[in-house]
Amino acid sequence: MTPSSEPAFREHPDRDSLAAALADHIAALVRAAVAARGICALVLSGGTTPVALFARLATLPGLPWDRTVLTLADERWVEPDDPASNEGLVRRTLAPALAQGARFVGLKSRGAVPVDGLAETELRLASVPRPFDLVLLGMGDDGHTASLFPGGEGLADALAGQGRLAASVVPAIPGPPRVTLTLPALLQAREIALLITGPSKRAVYDAALRPGPVEEFPVRGVLHQAAAPVTTWWAP
Ligand code: 6PG
Repeated sequence: MTPSSEPAFREHPDRDSLAAALADHIAALVRAAVAARGICALVLSGGTTPVALFARLATLPGLPWDRTVLTLADERWVEPDDPASNEGLVRRTLAPALAQGARFVGLKSRGAVPVDGLAETELRLASVPRPFDLVLLGMGDDGHTASLFPGGEGLADALAGQGRLAASVVPAIPGPPRVTLTLPALLQAREIALLITGPSKRAVYDAALRPGPVEEFPVRGVLHQAAAPVTTWWAP
């Protein structure tokens, strides 16, 4: 796959077949990465859309989970047992993978707010092999991806990266502050899969495909680049 000016687009008739197809794709990618390099690094996203995907992936037999590292594209700055925690989501839905030896690298470190824990988070992320074999991203109806939110405090630094893997952001929506991979870190990927469902996200996606400021739809930072190949996976 070579990066192109526009992402590949894979449409499925329903969300179950989408989850099944992407799970099979990720399984093949894990096997190929481990066969080629002895290890696979997956960056996952939270939210609700990937739950069916993770549930499917967790049931697939014979994956080399003991040679796989899992981390996150972003995290709400809450403890893993908080219902909002992406770490908690991954630990629950991919429990079989963890039981088979997958190493999970969480982004929530010590400190009351992300900026207090950022140095620790950065060290943790530095232990994950790069380029990442896959970065799985979602998108909100406001065009955010990971925790790169339009109007979010810290967005400019997170987009610029400034040589860092992680950045602290305060989204312009209710909820806890977050830590996110910076855009340059997200693009250190052999492959990016953008997983979105529903007509409203499709409309936002189509708008983000059109040229315009990245601050309007930060997902544009992923869609309009040639560093990493992107495939968008969509179902109604
Ligand atoms: C998060 C995710 C975020 C998510 C989008 C879409 O922490 O919530 O990383 O970027 O992918 O908000 O979320 P849904 O899948 O719930 O629509």
